[in-house]
Amino acid sequence: MTSIQCKGIKKYYGKAENRTEALRGIDLEVFDKQLTLLVGPSGSGKSTLLSIIQTILTPDEGDLFILGHHMNKMNELEKANFRNKNIGVVFQALYLIPSLTVLENVILPLIIKGESESKAKKKGIPILEQLNIGGKIDSSPTQLSRGQQQRVAIARALINEPKIIMCDEPTSALDQENGFTTMSILRDLALSDNRTVFVITHDSRILSFANRIVNINDGKIKEKNE
Ligand SMILES: Nc1ncnc2c1ncn2[C@@H]1O[C@H](COP(=O)(O)OP(=O)(O)OP(=O)(O)O)[C@@H](O)[C@H]1O
Ligand SMILES: [Mg+2]
Repeated sequence: MTSIQCKGIKKYYGKAENRTEALRGIDLEVFDKQLTLLVGPSGSGKSTLLSIIQTILTPDEGDLFILGHHMNKMNELEKANFRNKNIGVVFQALYLIPSLTVLENVILPLIIKGESESKAKKKGIPILEQLNIGGKIDSSPTQLSRGQQQRVAIARALINEPKIIMCDEPTSALDQENGFTTMSILRDLALSDNRTVFVITHDSRILSFANRIVNINDGKIKEKNE
């Protein structure tokens, strides 16, 4: 099923002679139960498109539909609520908090929402176990390898049970083994629970994990079917 639909999305940065057309009319459908990779060279518009789909950046033209909702019609508060409920994001800089334990980092989104600590921990522990990091729940993120930290960030993105998971360059700081582990986790997440996983990358080592590869070049989409 279609979970993300972009129709004629355009985005400009700057004004007059400094104007950059970062996205030049993006038409794209992303489906659930798939790991979709968005691949393109530096400056092609990947991060811009990801920010628009995350609804933290507003397009200058075009329409965005997520899970059937017309995002253009929502105000900022409605978008924030929608995002918290439905979209989990793993950023390239993982933003783990070193003074909190692994488990505390993972359940932070629930604590902020006002859930009790004991209830939140009951949700967090099985997710960390599923990601094979259950033995580290009381460690500080600083005591973990980069690959383990990556999995903690994924666990935190999953804590609200979002239908859509988005990742920005999830393997760029990982060696091949940890990169492959991360990608198989992301693919398994897509195949279970009707999730949509949308990943931007320029790491050619991980292309084989994708169910679908979408190329972006100079702000335009080109489909490449494998
Ligand atoms: N805040 C900004 N102000 C002005 N121009 C910007 C801004 N952000 C991005 N751009 C420009 O928009 C275009 C697309 O940038 P974007 O960051 O989306 O590319 P990218 O594909 O994510 O690149 P990379 O792989 O290097 O991260 C580039 O030409 C970039 O210079
Ligand atoms: Mg980028």
